[in-house]
Amino acid sequence: MAFNHDLLVSASSTVQVRASESGIAVTPVSFRMLRQVGELQRSAFRPPLAYGFSTLLVLWALPNVRFIVARSGERMVGCAIGDVQNGQSRVINICVDPTVRRNGVATRLLRELERALPTGDVVLMVEHDNHAAKELYLQEGYLPISVSRDYYGRGLNGVWMQKSRTPNPPQKIRI
Ligand SMILES: CC(C)(COP(=O)(O)OP(=O)(O)OC[C@H]1O[C@@H](n2cnc3c(N)ncnc32)[C@H](O)[C@@H]1OP(=O)(O)O)[C@@H](O)C(=O)NCCC(=O)NCCS
Repeated sequence: MAFNHDLLVSASSTVQVRASESGIAVTPVSFRMLRQVGELQRSAFRPPLAYGFSTLLVLWALPNVRFIVARSGERMVGCAIGDVQNGQSRVINICVDPTVRRNGVATRLLRELERALPTGDVVLMVEHDNHAAKELYLQEGYLPISVSRDYYGRGLNGVWMQKSRTPNPPQKIRI
């Protein structure tokens, strides 16, 4: 998929360089990068939501999981993890270092992950109050489909979102 908004001109006419232009490389993760991804997780998520090394190791090893990272030189600035289940692709985790946000890194990671997971529609779960992530997903064509109450803890609902990749979905006939 081509990027048509790599260069963003701000209101003050200064040109901000977006992720694909700024020397940020997106690649599959390697074993030796996993510790850095763990540090990234801790900086990006509140503690219960950050994946630790052992979880990352399992995800890295599973054959049906796609695990990609964004790096600026040697610095780990983002990661995205997904898999395929029951003929449907799933975004399991995506995060970006707080110091490089709003530069298109997550958009690029999400698009690359979708490309690496071409099976079926794409689903994900996002916390109801995570406005940044919800905006990202809406911008990338995901729509809210249902709510799981207390998914992230008491009073913290999760929203399932889905991106349809079926060009002409067959009409559902209720009998
Ligand atoms: C959500 C997250 C991954 C976005 O990363 P990012 O690299 O800053 O996202 P992008 O720069 O690609 O932003 C793409 C779009 O998402 C929306 N967006 C991103 N951050 C936003 C914010 N703080 N407020 C409102 N909209 C936001 C905007 O529409 C943005 O486009 P724009 O910058 O042209 O306005 C990042 O904030 C993050 O790591 N958050 C913590 C981890 C997390 O919540 N992950 C998602 C779990 S479901």
